[in-house]
Amino acid sequence: MRASDEPAPIDPSMPRVELHLHLEGAAPPAFIRDLAQQRHVDIGGIFDADGGYAFRGFAAFLGAYDAACQVLQRPEDFRRLTEAVLEARAADGVIYAEIFLSPDFCGGGDLAAWREHLAAIHEAAAAAEAREGIVMRAIVTAIRHRGPAQTRRVALCAAETAGDFVTGFGIAGDESAGAAREFNWGFDCAREAGLGLTAHAGEWAGPESVRAALDEWRVARIGHGVRAIEDRALVARLAEAGTVLETCPGSNVALGLYQSFAAHPVARLREAGVRVTLSTDDPLFFRTSLSAEYDALARAFGWTEADFRAINIEAARAAFCDRATQERILSRLEVPA
Ligand code: ADE
Ligand code: ZN
Repeated sequence: MRASDEPAPIDPSMPRVELHLHLEGAAPPAFIRDLAQQRHVDIGGIFDADGGYAFRGFAAFLGAYDAACQVLQRPEDFRRLTEAVLEARAADGVIYAEIFLSPDFCGGGDLAAWREHLAAIHEAAAAAEAREGIVMRAIVTAIRHRGPAQTRRVALCAAETAGDFVTGFGIAGDESAGAAREFNWGFDCAREAGLGLTAHAGEWAGPESVRAALDEWRVARIGHGVRAIEDRALVARLAEAGTVLETCPGSNVALGLYQSFAAHPVARLREAGVRVTLSTDDPLFFRTSLSAEYDALARAFGWTEADFRAINIEAARAAFCDRATQERILSRLEVPA
């Protein structure tokens, strides 16, 4: 740290890789509010006096999230949303983003409707790549508390559209809903389709939830996974297996899982040899950005540009994309593949 005890500022133009970002969670509140007005949809009191999203705790967050998603009704809404999200992420230095897409919000799990929504999202991604250079890949995501049967529908949507753009499958939502094994069919289906696998675990449930995701679903990456810190043997297992954690410290602080960045286990996990990456999760809900996360972590742990560069390289190596794309991203981070 410098004499003032303030860490050196992190170069805002540093290229960043983000692996854990929910499309709807990156929706600007004004975008959702305007659409609600146009469509005459009553989404209840999800905004505060400043116009941002209002909620307290995880259950209220999920409620506000679902309410906001009610206004996203047509492929064109998702095309415009994707455009807005990628433009904002590119302005934050993101050069590669894996974005969670939920068929639940894009036609309810119906395959034909999903294809139409996905085509619109893909069109926006191609335009953003041409315009801003940001590369997007999609992770089709089931919502756990909607149950195993719906997860099977979502996995079929993922498997049927797997390819250069849809490269992953995951599960989000309330991780305490249902036993992991009830969702095995969905993960098996996605694995057979060649998709990379990730699961939200170890956020609102403890180490046993992370173990179940590893044992039942054989995921390469865990969304959050931070509560693995409560079990030393599990931390050693993650480090040994090279499992990648998509940590989102600002999300955990905003939702009250940890009281501050300084109390967050990301630095301890990294010191224990776990492959750690950094993302924003739902940046517009949590009023964060990747640059804000880096600044907060630099202040909390004294991390420097070299730390963030190493974390971005780790993220690029863990990306669910083809080798040529991965090499392209690594070269933009200035390292040979
Ligand atoms: N969906 C969007 N954000 C989420 C989070 N932080 N945890 C679980 N599900 C989510
Ligand atoms: Zn998430």
